Amino acid sequence: MAPQRPALPFRVSDDADPALIERYRPWLGPPGRGDMPDELGLSLDAEGLAITQGKRLSRRPSFTTGPSGWRLAHAAVKREALARAAGLKRGHRPAIIDATAGLGGDGLVLARLGCPVTLVERNTTVAALLDDALRRAAAENWLVEAIARTTLVVADGASYLAALPAAEYPNVVYLDPMFAPTRRRGAAGKGAQLLAEIAGEPGDGDALLQPALAAATERVVVKRHRHAAPLAETEPSFDIDGKSTRFDVHISY
Ligand SMILES: C[S@@+](CC[C@H](N)C(=O)[O-])C[C@H]1O[C@@H](n2cnc3c(N)ncnc32)[C@H](O)[C@@H]1O
Repeated sequence: MAPQRPALPFRVSDDADPALIERYRPWLGPPGRGDMPDELGLSLDAEGLAITQGKRLSRRPSFTTGPSGWRLAHAAVKREALARAAGLKRGHRPAIIDATAGLGGDGLVLARLGCPVTLVERNTTVAALLDDALRRAAAENWLVEAIARTTLVVADGASYLAALPAAEYPNVVYLDPMFAPTRRRGAAGKGAQLLAEIAGEPGDGDALLQPALAAATERVVVKRHRHAAPLAETEPSFDIDGKSTRFDVHISY
């Protein structure tokens, strides 16, 4: 497993929920109080967790606003290349393990479309941000059912898949281990850059493919940058082009 970046400074404000402070302590370390330092860090206030940088930046990952909120609100199999790559069709909603969950944008789309989704994330800072975004989204009527279909696991995806008992094998494993360089401006591009800064370059994405192929009863879907080589230099059964990305589909039965 690639080493994680050292934990970011974690500050809590006086109005933060004490239960959340305790919930995130094992993942984020002991919290401090007072102003955020000028470096990148996490702060917990009455609304929840945010990525902060001194007084200049405060970004709270959200499933209800911005590009991610729009994508979820308009989710449809025909609109989502990922859904077609994962084999969703009328009457079929596969159980999915998203073994590189990140901030959960892709995983939540699959859950919103009706799939049970296990979100596996190894970086504890990213996992805490995802957990908090899921918690806030669960308060929205239109997302309650999708959130209820998700389970967050903090673990290395390859080890998690390798240790799964056969009775818990999913239909589909989804892998998106790499941060593609982004030239996009605006909230989405900035968000991807921040996430890359927090989680770092994983570098060992190739190690995920074999355990994924061994566990998936139907298929493994790998998101790649459009012109990138296939993961672990293993040719997929076929691929589906998205806008700036490609989904490599490895049929596993
Ligand atoms: C590109 S992001 C995933 C973005 C995600 N698809 C989304 O829509 O938000 C990659 C994430 O995978 C995580 N990751 C990379 N390798 C992993 C592994 N072996 N096990 C678990 N998580 C991993 C990284 O920490 C990072 O958060």
